[in-house]
Amino acid sequence: LTVRASSYADELVKTAKTIASPGRGILAMDESNATCGKRLASIGLENTEANRQAYRTLLVSVPGLGDYISGAILFEETLYQSTVEGKKIVDVLVEQNIVPGIKVDKGLVPLAGSNDESWCQGLDGLASRSAAYYQQGARFAKWRTVVSIPNGPSALAVKEAAWGLARYAAISQDNGLVPIVEPEILLDGEHNIDRTFEVAKKVWAEVFFYLAENNVMFEGILLKPSMVTPGAECKERATPQQVADYTLKLLRQRIPPAVPGIMFLSGGQSEVEATLNLNAMNQGPNPWHVSFSYARALQNTCLKTWGGRPENVQAAQEALLVRAKANSLAQLGKYTG
Ligand code: 13P
Repeated sequence: LTVRASSYADELVKTAKTIASPGRGILAMDESNATCGKRLASIGLENTEANRQAYRTLLVSVPGLGDYISGAILFEETLYQSTVEGKKIVDVLVEQNIVPGIKVDKGLVPLAGSNDESWCQGLDGLASRSAAYYQQGARFAKWRTVVSIPNGPSALAVKEAAWGLARYAAISQDNGLVPIVEPEILLDGEHNIDRTFEVAKKVWAEVFFYLAENNVMFEGILLKPSMVTPGAECKERATPQQVADYTLKLLRQRIPPAVPGIMFLSGGQSEVEATLNLNAMNQGPNPWHVSFSYARALQNTCLKTWGGRPENVQAAQEALLVRAKANSLAQLGKYTG
């Protein structure tokens, strides 16, 4: 039985390789309006479209950003938005040599029949939305689902997460978007690093089982895993070396070398911690590009420095560039602090 390949196959491989290029990673700036509202509230700003536009304009216009950032994930509002000066944000990114991406999932809702776990919505209408996003300039997509360790994870929740990611990945490829496959294993909990490793192994086994079953082309996807760390409330903390050892062991056992890039999320780690952990993972050769797709670990200082004041824009942009450059060096295994 042969399966029709995506008519975008060559382009998907090229897009994935461009995003996974040496010394570069992804700027996740796809906070939903609700999450962006929380970030703006932390600096005393109202969650208005104008404030979100001002902040996103600041981010995408950092001079030289494309030296360190290969892709930027946008929320739907931003994909169709212009900068404060009236230029399409997508065009600004392309001029910076940054590939525009789009968050396509519709968020988490309770998973009936589980142990208070959740599942991710958004498959209905996804094909037509993806085609429209491609028209608008997006070339990759993100779908984030979560797995909770303290709440199980139940076999049902893991299966649902893996199946949803696989359907989304197949639909994205069919419409020319490189899917970022993101089953976030939440940090919350008192569990130790061995428990995280065990759960992550199970999750990635199922994800790749269903990706294969859905005929997803591995050369045209990117992954966004959580690093393997102890739970946030676990008393034993792990060094960057331990995080790197556990995480690389997981990847080697579960991720085929056909996958071009592994772009980690920061998941609540501090800016420096996220950089050190990435750097530790790049001390030897890896079969895939091992890099970053950070939101908080790239933006925290930038956002605080800005504080919503026009006179701080330049300093805030410099702060973002400092983090982007540090993570670029960490991608190359050359970060020295
Ligand atoms: P953090 O790096 O803040 O975890 O966010 C990355 C992301 O996009 C989660 O989906």
